[in-house]
Amino acid sequence: MNPRICYLNGAYLPADEAKISVMDRGFLFGDGVYEVIPVYGGSLFRLAEHLDRLERSLELIKLENPLARERWSELLEDLVARNGSGDQSVYLQVTRGAAPKREHNFPKTVTPTVLAMSNPLPAPDPQLLEQGIQVASVEDVRWQYCHIKAITLLPNALLKQQARDAGADEAILIRDGNATEGSASNLFIVADDKLITPPKSNLLLPGITRDLVVELALANDIPFEERDIAEAELRSAREIWVTSSTREIMPVVNLDGQPVGDGKAGDWWRRLHAIYSHYKAAVSRGERH
Ligand code: PDD
Repeated sequence: MNPRICYLNGAYLPADEAKISVMDRGFLFGDGVYEVIPVYGGSLFRLAEHLDRLERSLELIKLENPLARERWSELLEDLVARNGSGDQSVYLQVTRGAAPKREHNFPKTVTPTVLAMSNPLPAPDPQLLEQGIQVASVEDVRWQYCHIKAITLLPNALLKQQARDAGADEAILIRDGNATEGSASNLFIVADDKLITPPKSNLLLPGITRDLVVELALANDIPFEERDIAEAELRSAREIWVTSSTREIMPVVNLDGQPVGDGKAGDWWRRLHAIYSHYKAAVSRGERH
């Protein structure tokens, strides 16, 4: 297979030849932000929404966007084409760049590092979708800026591993008695005959998949509410789902060793998943974005 091509600071090159400085603040401080954008049939899924979120993350870390909107689109489309179009997952990252000296405060003049690379994006395993995943609840020990898509992911990695060590696939994070999101996904439950997800705040990442699920639920008259989810409500929910760009909408069938609802992927999930798949297929055919 041909090596995957990445984009680094203006050049396209094989990913295994791309190098950054050890002085890069992304490497030294985790000082940067990122996006993961799925590509279906060569089309970047919800590109405008991803670039909007990138803009907001950059603003929140006080880093000027190094590229104009059109330039981002152009370079990402080019990257997708160079990696054979089809389905793939594009990862992009902007760091504050390499300063001459390791100092916490922001350097005065430094050029941001821009990296974009492509990874394979296998469709979610139909069997896994059908059988659902297990999750473990863990205390959300992260910081107060969870709305920034920061590359500083050690807390998320630790929490995910904690869930893995407990035999689960994903961690559901609990803060001050409320379930906020997963370690790398957003959270939905079905309770009181409504689809419920927590409101956006600094305590969770505003997921692009989350927003699309909300949009599709509203467009299809599915009763929906945006509000806090108390831990007790999570435990008694009829259905639990987690959503992300790479895992789409995953049904959760087991929480901390206890079955969720009847322990199978639920009817509400089945309906929304069908609507989502339909939307995705339209994107693949180039009929939607
Ligand atoms: N993560 N919450 C967190 C903490 C996440 O890391 C992610 C996605 C999401 C879902 O966001 P979206 O629907 O925009 O993918 C929610 C990506 C996929 C990752 O870090 O690989």
